[in-house]
Amino acid sequence: MGRSHLSVRIRIRRHKVFLLCLLGIFVISFLHYYKALHNISLLQELSSPSTHLKTLKLFSGIFWSFPATDFNSQNDIYKHSHLKAKLDSNVILTDPPDGTLHKHPFVLHDDSTPFFIQTKSGAVCYREGTDMDNSASHRRLLQHNNKKNTSKDNIINAGKKVVRCPCQQGWHGPHCGIPTIVYHSNLPSKSKVTPRKVPRRVINAININHEFDLLHARFHELADVVDVFLVCESNFTAYGETRPLYFLQMILNGTFDYIKHKILYIFLDHFPDGGRADGWIMDDYLRTYLTKNGMSRIQGLKLDDVFLINDADEIPVRDGILFLKLYDGWTEPVGIHMRKSLYGFYWKQFGTLNILSACTAAMLFKVYKNDGILLRRRSYYSMSGFREYENSTGRILLPWAIGSPVHYAGWHCSWCFKPEGIYYKLISAQNGDFPRWGDYGEKKNLNYIKELVRTGGWFDGSVPNYPPTDTEEHMYAPKYLLDNYNKYSYLLENPYAKEKHTKLT
Ligand SMILES: *[C@@H]1O[C@H](CO)[C@@H](O)[C@H](O)[C@H]1NC(C)=O
Ligand SMILES: *[C@@H]1O[C@H](CO)[C@@H](O)[C@H](O)[C@H]1NC(C)=O
Ligand SMILES: *[C@@H]1O[C@H](CO)[C@@H](O)[C@H](O)[C@H]1NC(C)=O
Ligand SMILES: *[C@@H]1O[C@H](CO)[C@@H](O)[C@H](O)[C@H]1NC(C)=O
Ligand SMILES: *[C@@H]1O[C@H](CO)[C@@H](O)[C@H](O)[C@H]1NC(C)=O
Repeated sequence: MGRSHLSVRIRIRRHKVFLLCLLGIFVISFLHYYKALHNISLLQELSSPSTHLKTLKLFSGIFWSFPATDFNSQNDIYKHSHLKAKLDSNVILTDPPDGTLHKHPFVLHDDSTPFFIQTKSGAVCYREGTDMDNSASHRRLLQHNNKKNTSKDNIINAGKKVVRCPCQQGWHGPHCGIPTIVYHSNLPSKSKVTPRKVPRRVINAININHEFDLLHARFHELADVVDVFLVCESNFTAYGETRPLYFLQMILNGTFDYIKHKILYIFLDHFPDGGRADGWIMDDYLRTYLTKNGMSRIQGLKLDDVFLINDADEIPVRDGILFLKLYDGWTEPVGIHMRKSLYGFYWKQFGTLNILSACTAAMLFKVYKNDGILLRRRSYYSMSGFREYENSTGRILLPWAIGSPVHYAGWHCSWCFKPEGIYYKLISAQNGDFPRWGDYGEKKNLNYIKELVRTGGWFDGSVPNYPPTDTEEHMYAPKYLLDNYNKYSYLLENPYAKEKHTKLT
């Protein structure tokens, strides 16, 4: 009896020691985590003496909604962000009983995905682009992988030796990280780009109305390269009428659970002055609000992060954006050549649509005044901050575009809805892009709309010539839609064509 009593006590004491150790570890890791949270590089950037005072002034512009903050006192900024970081440390998107989802901040963290690996011979290879089965290199890559020493510095410095990796088809450059759409683009510095130690964070901003199928396609396409999606929804249509907050409802009812940890929800609850008379005002304002509200709620932003703004019907292909994330040495602003189609991917139009869509956060703030609509216009060189910014980067900034007229780097799918969706787009279209077909009764008739979809015709009565398409062709449609062919078949093949072939998937 006594013996077992003693052993129980010893065991209890051991447990106590064990618990104390656990507690210690917990406290230490908590402190570490806490410190990491505070490590807001933007603030370090601001406070480093070598960085320009200009930046300080500039950043007072970002915080649109805090007009009177004293930005001369860096301690104040620090305290402010510190507070917000604390609030945000564990919840990003939970169902807000208080309806404050549109006020939640979003904290950006570095992406620790090991995109590159180092071979024993010293080559730095992009995993996905490298042919791992290539005889000798295969063994070396694996060997290296098993070693514990994977300091990122080693990897990148070794890269300077430029030992070539054996590339998979579709990947180029000494590190096999340059996709064909960049390799065949007009990027002037193509041969000088280098892999980064730490990937840039990518911010993708869009306005949403009712393009939900394309939204799923975007999220799946870009899920692993975009760090945060800024998605703006309004309770007004672009025309000025009330609309339900469908996207909010879908976030709350679980439709986007697979991606909601990366969504920053933006709610535009007002309509700009004059937006009813001149629809272009609303058109611009949507992008302005999207950028200013969204960027003001991001914490931990770095000046070399990538800002990417698209319309809901423009979906960049993942590999092009991944290149921006993983490489240094490209110039800006960055356009994207997109495959153009109407009503679905089957009515392909000639040529590509090249839209300026991306730049660094630095350029967004210093040149574009934190307004995404200005990036989409092609007049960056005449903007007041441009020369100064160009000078600060120490090189000549030439725009370039991912892809080329014959290498699609994304999809622009116009009016890609079922007939009911086309009807909804007609009636919610802004009041300025004339003729406004939603103003004509006969154009809103669903049978009329179906006939347009069948023939590829336009509301003005024209029926353009389209090149033939084949669902098997390269870059026909985003992968997610093709992978779920039956669900999205209305976008992949003409639903009203006489001959229909169902694909077995
Ligand atoms: C904070 O950032 C600095 C420089 O970016 C880095 O050296 C340091 O390790 C970081 N600390 C933590 C706790 O992440
Ligand atoms: C890691 O690699 C570096 C450079 O090759 C070397 O100096 C260092 O000793 C290595 N560390 C370990 C733990 O192997
Ligand atoms: C949009 O939401 C705002 C804030 O909730 C409200 O004041 C406004 O009346 C709403 N507008 C419409 C058209 O529903
Ligand atoms: C979620 O909400 C949307 C929009 O209101 C609706 O269409 C959809 O059916 C809902 N889904 C679920 C699973 O409730
Ligand atoms: C460009 O930068 C240099 C210093 O880096 C400065 O001396 C010069 O005045 C700048 N020029 C313009 C136009 O800002």
